[in-house]
Amino acid sequence: MARSRKVLSCCFIQITAFSYLIFMAISQLSPDFYGDICPQALPTIRLVVYAAIVKEPRMGASLLRLHFHDCFVNGCDASVLLDDTESFTGEKTAGPNNNSLRGFDVIDEIKAAVNLACFGNIVSCADILAVAARDSIVAVSFLQLGGAPYEVLLGRRDARTASQAAANNDLPAPFFDLPALISNFDSHGLSLQDLVVLSGAHTLGFARCLIFRSRIYNETSTIDPTFARYLQAQCPPSNGGGDDILASFDDSPARFDANYFDALRQSRGVLHSDQQLFSGDGGEADSLVSYYSEKREAFWQDFGAAMVKMGSLSPLTGSDGEIRENCRYVNDAN
Ligand code: HEM
Ligand SMILES: *[C@@H]1O[C@H](CO)[C@@H](O)[C@H](O)[C@H]1NC(C)=O
Ligand SMILES: *[C@@H]1O[C@H](CO)[C@@H](O)[C@H](O)[C@H]1NC(C)=O
Repeated sequence: MARSRKVLSCCFIQITAFSYLIFMAISQLSPDFYGDICPQALPTIRLVVYAAIVKEPRMGASLLRLHFHDCFVNGCDASVLLDDTESFTGEKTAGPNNNSLRGFDVIDEIKAAVNLACFGNIVSCADILAVAARDSIVAVSFLQLGGAPYEVLLGRRDARTASQAAANNDLPAPFFDLPALISNFDSHGLSLQDLVVLSGAHTLGFARCLIFRSRIYNETSTIDPTFARYLQAQCPPSNGGGDDILASFDDSPARFDANYFDALRQSRGVLHSDQQLFSGDGGEADSLVSYYSEKREAFWQDFGAAMVKMGSLSPLTGSDGEIRENCRYVNDAN
C-alpha cells in the first residue's frame, strides 16, 4: 500500500513536470512574436505564398508538407532546409524526402523578402515554414476552396545541424499499417485523432507512381477494383517506367474539402497508409474518418488545432540555435 502510494506520487510528480515542460515549450512561442520587431513579417510571407500558389496551385500542398517533414525530425527547427555540403549530409536526400519534397525555392524567396521587409535577419526559417504552411491553407480558403485559417505560434529558432538518419527513422512511411502510424504519431506526442485529422492534408497534392504502384497492382490489397484500374491506366507496372507520374490523393487536389475522407470510406485511398485509417472494421480510426467526411467545418477547426500542436514540437527558443541568414546554410558555413 505504502509502496504503491510512493510509486503513484513519483509518477504524479513526473507527469506534472512533464506537462510543465510541454507547457513551457508551447508558452515560449507566441502569436505576436514579430509584432514589435518586424510587423511587416507576416504580410510579406503571405504575399509570396499567394504569388507562388497563383503561379502553381500545387505549391500550397508542397509548402504544407515541408513544415510536417521539418517538425517530425528533431522538432520544428528548419533542419529540413539545410543543403548538403562537402562535409555535411542533411535531410533533403533522406528516403522520404529525396526527389519528393518541393518548395525550397519559394522558401528562399520568402526569406529574401522578409530580410528586406524587416531591414535585417529577424525571422527564422522555422517560423517561415510554419507560417507558409498556414498561409497555404489561408490562400485555399481565400479562393473559397475550403479550409479555415488558424493562428500560428511564433518564436522558433533555426537548428545548426540536421540528421539524415533521423529523417529516415522518424517520418512515417506509406507502407505503414495503422499500429505503426499510431505509434509514430504517439512518439511525437500526437494522438490517433491528430493522425487522422492531419492526414487530411492529403486532401491537397499528389503522390508518385513509384510510391503507390505496389498497392494498385496487389491483388490482395483492399483497394476498390475500379479505382485500382483507373490508377493502373496512369501508373504502369514497374518494368514500364513512369515512376514520377503523379496521381492526386483525391479528385480535387487543390480544394481543402472532405473528399479525401470520402475516398477512404470507398476504399479509394491512394497510399496503403491512407487506407489504413479506414479499414471498415468500425474501429476508432474508421469513426474519425467518417466524422470528418461528414463534418467539414469540424475537419477545418481540428486541422488548425492539430497543426498548432505539430508546430510546437521541440522548438528551439531563447538563445538556442540561431536565426539563419540563408535558410540553406548555417550562418558561419564556409
Ligand atoms: C500519416 C502519415 C503520412 C504518410 C505515410 C505520408 C506520406 C506521403 C507520401 C508518400 C506522399 C507522396 C510523396 C511522393 O510521391 O513523392 C505524401 C504527400 C503529401 N503529404 Fe503526406 N504523409 C503522411 C502525413 C502527412 C501529414 C501529417 C501532412 C501535413 C500535415 C502531409 C502532407 C502531405 C502533402 C500536402 C502531400 C502532397 C505534396 C505535394 O503534392 O507536393 N502528409 N505524403
Ligand atoms: C537521391 O536521388 C538522386 C537522384 O535520383 C540519386 O542519384 C541519389 O542516389 C539519391 N540519394 C539517396 C541518398 O538515396
Ligand atoms: C499486398 O497486400 C497485402 C494485403 O494488404 C499485403 O499483406 C502484402 O504485403 C501486399 N504485397 C505487396 C507486394 O505489397
